[in-house]
Amino acid sequence: MTRVLYIDCCIRKEQSRTRRLAEAFFTALDKRSGFAVERLTLMDEPILPFQDGFFWQRERLIEAGELNHPRFRYAHQFRQADRIVIAAPFWDLSFPALLKVYIENISVQGITFDCDEQNGCFGACRAERMLFLTTRGGALEGDPMDNGTKYLGDMAKFFGIPRFDCVAADGLDLGLEPAEEILGRAVLRAEEMAKAF
Ligand SMILES: Cc1cc2nc3c(=O)[nH]c(=O)nc-3n(C[C@H](O)[C@H](O)[C@H](O)COP(=O)(O)O)c2cc1C
Repeated sequence: MTRVLYIDCCIRKEQSRTRRLAEAFFTALDKRSGFAVERLTLMDEPILPFQDGFFWQRERLIEAGELNHPRFRYAHQFRQADRIVIAAPFWDLSFPALLKVYIENISVQGITFDCDEQNGCFGACRAERMLFLTTRGGALEGDPMDNGTKYLGDMAKFFGIPRFDCVAADGLDLGLEPAEEILGRAVLRAEEMAKAF
């Protein structure tokens, strides 16, 4: 069984076009056998940014090698997945802060990555692939101002995940073309991706 971790950061939930893209992907994936999808809806999780005692607790636990503490459960879940799918809209040239806070929480030395004198830092995750599904108001495909895709691709490398793909519906709010048509094309690409995921 291939374990797929679906990280849902579609803040607008039922109204989210990014979630529609993700649902199309998973409906297509459902038609194939051998996949077990675990969904993590970030908006429903008690995920905290690092500050004050929450930061220092982490430092103490890592120092003491107590990596089974419940606060590291997201990091263990991420490390053990065979495939990662992240769905998040394009916000402020990147993605919602909630996703960054999640990444902060899963970046734990000794779980998702490690470092030694010989190799420096290296990824420790199982996943072979990470897929990023997004929708954007403006036309940012391939634009260096799209910091979200660049950052997530770099994080995949950092975590030791060899393949990173992005499927985006681009320019949805420009009014140059009906948003439904743009989204429809992205849905087709996401469905194609699911066939060989
Ligand atoms: C808080 C916020 C910030 C946004 N920032 C950008 C932006 O920097 N550039 C852009 O092209 N679109 C931006 N948008 C538009 C969204 O990328 C676009 O509407 C997207 O499809 C929303 O996805 P959703 O329907 O899944 O919520 C922003 C939207 C919101 C609500």
